[in-house]
Amino acid sequence: MIRLISVALLSILIANVESTPCTFVTNGQQITYGVRGNTIHFRVVLTGIAPNGSGWTAIGFGNSMFSGLDVIVVRVLNGRIIVTDEFVRGFQSPVPDRQNNVQVYGLRYENGVVVASFSRSVFSTEQTDANLSGCSPWKFTVGLNRMSPQGHLFHHSQTPVHRVVCINQCTV
Ligand SMILES: *[C@@H]1O[C@H](CO)[C@@H](O)[C@H](O)[C@H]1NC(C)=O
Ligand SMILES: *[C@@H]1O[C@H](CO)[C@@H](O)[C@H](O)[C@H]1NC(C)=O
Repeated sequence: MIRLISVALLSILIANVESTPCTFVTNGQQITYGVRGNTIHFRVVLTGIAPNGSGWTAIGFGNSMFSGLDVIVVRVLNGRIIVTDEFVRGFQSPVPDRQNNVQVYGLRYENGVVVASFSRSVFSTEQTDANLSGCSPWKFTVGLNRMSPQGHLFHHSQTPVHRVVCINQCTV
């Protein structure tokens, strides 16, 4: 019996050690991400958002807007949360990919807290989707940024934070 319990405890311990998601945290914002199999899971949490709040935040993959960024855009618009797979090259608003490769599996907007959970594969056949295997450059947009009533993104108010993410070190 005791042996069984220790085996169970050990496997819980190993499971915890093996699953180490990564996070990006700034004032009022937390992004948790990690890979499982060939899928990267994301959870974006924004706090202090007004009930009629509006704006956008994003996670970009690539070196710069100039060279082209694959972006997952989270829009807060009229009390709704919209998550889209987009691409931008040059200093303009991104455009949605022909094919959406982001699967949204949870959206919540309550008491000033926005939570969006979604996933994408590490790589896809679509040219506008960055290959995120190995180590790749990511950009985190800070907070909720201004947007037109139609959802057209205006320039971010702070320079996005650049990080090289080695996705195998972030697991869920
Ligand atoms: C949200 O509502 C508040 C109070 O009703 C108002 O002052 C504010 O301008 C509104 N903001 C937007 C973006 O509509
Ligand atoms: C993605 O990149 C990895 C290594 O960086 C490579 O082995 C793999 O073939 C690439 N996949 C695609 C679909 O380009």
